[in-house]
Parts: sequence; C-alpha cells; structure tokens
Amino acid sequence: MEERTMSDRITLRRFDDMHCHFRIGPIMIDVVPFTARYAGRATVMPNTRPRAILTGKDVIWYRDHLLRLLNGMKLAGMSVLEPLMTIEIRDNTTPKMIVEAKRAGAIAGKVYPLGVTTNSDEGLRDFSGKKILETFRAMQDVGMLLLLHGEIDQERTLVTKREEAFLPTLLWLAERFLDLKIVLEHVSTRSGVQTVERLGKNVAATITVHHLCLTLNDIIGYGVQPHNACNPMPKDFEDRDVLIQAATSGNAKFFLGSDTAPHLREKKECAKGACGVFTAPVLPAVLAEVFERAGKLDRLEDFTSRFGAEFYGLPLNEGTITLVKKEWIVPEQIGGVVPFRAGTKLRWQLLREE
Ligand code: DOR
Ligand code: ZN
Repeated sequence: MEERTMSDRITLRRFDDMHCHFRIGPIMIDVVPFTARYAGRATVMPNTRPRAILTGKDVIWYRDHLLRLLNGMKLAGMSVLEPLMTIEIRDNTTPKMIVEAKRAGAIAGKVYPLGVTTNSDEGLRDFSGKKILETFRAMQDVGMLLLLHGEIDQERTLVTKREEAFLPTLLWLAERFLDLKIVLEHVSTRSGVQTVERLGKNVAATITVHHLCLTLNDIIGYGVQPHNACNPMPKDFEDRDVLIQAATSGNAKFFLGSDTAPHLREKKECAKGACGVFTAPVLPAVLAEVFERAGKLDRLEDFTSRFGAEFYGLPLNEGTITLVKKEWIVPEQIGGVVPFRAGTKLRWQLLREE
C-alpha cells in the first residue's frame, strides 16, 4: 500500500457552484454528472437555446428536465445535486413575471447585457429605465438575487475593457437597491475586484477557475486557442494576481461560480467560435493546484463551500468530497467537448465515489 500523508489528501465539504451552464438536450447527459461529482448545489444559467428560461413556466420545465436526469444518476448510485434555478432578465421582464418565477422556485435573475456573450442576442439594453427599475425592485421585494454578467459592449470599447466599462452601472444599481443581493459574475479585473470590495455587503462576486489560470496570452498569445476563449476574456497578469488574491483571501464576498460552459468542439474550432470553457471535469483538481501554489489550501473550502451559501442565505451542504495527490491526464475530449486543460497533467485527483 502506498503511504499517504495528510498533505496528500484533502477532504472538503461538497461545493456550491454558483454559476453553471447545463444547456438543453443530449449534451446535458455528458456535462451535468461532472458537476454532480463535487457540488451539492449549482446555480443553473438561463441562457439556453432553443428555449431560454424567462418565466415561472420555463423554470418548472427546465427543472423537471434536470431532475429527470439527476434522479437517473441517483438511481445509478451517484450523488445528488440540487439545481438552483434562475430566469433571464430582459427588457420585457415584468414585476409579475418575477413574482411568478419566484413562486416557481427561481432563486435568482440573470442579466446579460445585449450582445456581450453567448446567447445574449436578446440581452438587456436599458439598465436605468422606469420599467426595468420596477423589475429590479420586485426582485428585491421577493428576495431574488440579481446576477450580473458585468460587461458592456459600447463603441470604441475593446473587448478587454468591457468589464471596466460596466462598473459604473454596478455602482449605480448597488446604490439604489441596498437590499438587493447583487453578484458580479466571473469578475475578471483588478477594478472589478476593488469595486466589489468597497461596495456594501449586499454585493459579492463569483470567480471562475479559468480566470485564476489564464491571461489573454493563453487565448491569442501563442496561436489562437479557441478552447480557452470565454467572456469576459481573461486579462493581464496583474488582474489574474488580484483574482487569486481575492479568491484565497478569506474575504466572504468572493466565492466559486465556475461558469463551466460546454460547447461542442466544432462550435469552438471555426470562424466566430463560441465563447465558454468547459471546466467541470477538472474543477476541484485545478482549484486545489491554484490554492496550493498560493500557499492557501486551508482557504479553499470557504471559497468553494461556505461563502456562496452564506451570501445566498442557504444552509451549508452536507457531505464531503476527497481529493488525493495522484497525477492524471485530462482527456482530450468528453462527449464531443474539449475540457479545460485537455491533454495536460494534473496533480490532484477527485476520488471516485464508492
Ligand atoms: O464564456 C462564456 N460562456 N461566458 C458567458 O457569459 C456565457 C457562457 C456560455 O453560455 O457559453
Ligand atoms: Zn456564464
């Protein structure tokens, strides 16, 4: 028997992954089980196609769809994952739709500003009109979180500056809705982190594992690498340093939202390829690597399994997962999707359930 020391093994409370793209259709069968291996709950993004999740009816339909899949996995002896449902907030979302969606079980509303990412072609145009403010107020009243894709596409703004261009909107909303819980999703810049740090306790941010690893060089610096392309685009080294510092700092405003976003290989390797990185197959292993390198493995569990639950107002997950120090090579492809770090060696491995 191989001898193992404590530093070869980490046991963590099951994760809350507060930002997951599970999609619709056959791809779900390949992608959802990866998240279920380590997460007790997952916030499910509503930018699905052909049917976007916009109303209470959509929430019930999508959750049933997911639960059928998850129950099948449970029968096969795999862990259960609770999907935390969301709706997409568009210019035509009304307070009545908010109340209905909340009643149907939606925990949050997600805003995609128009045109900034995958499936945002009907995203929000107006953040300050009377109608949308009434909608945000309804969210505050019913206790629904506001999840923001924090980028804005405007003239003469480079893709790498879109998050910074959005921050005044975040400030403006946070000042007006002091009791609305707001999450700046997948924060990617130093200014984004600093803005969240200085806002009140109703404002937090999620951080992805790929933004803790990548800079823009990993997308366009050594040939175009479409499987690393995502929105917001990873930025400069300094931004990445600040993200690692925020994730490992023990500041409860920063927690895991992986933005695991699978796209079939042919949708990535083409002209106008889709943005999104499929991180679920490697997520706990790569996070352990990042936190270990920062000398902060002891802070990993708070980031993955405590701060998100506390911000959402949920009890902590029951159950644990275990990672062991054992090298493995990430598969080149899974169900037609190229995962993050494909073909590379990782040093932590998630123990399979017995
Ligand atoms: O890279 C991304 N992919 N960012 C998003 O905001 C959306 C996501 C997707 O749906 O693929
Ligand atoms: Zn996303």
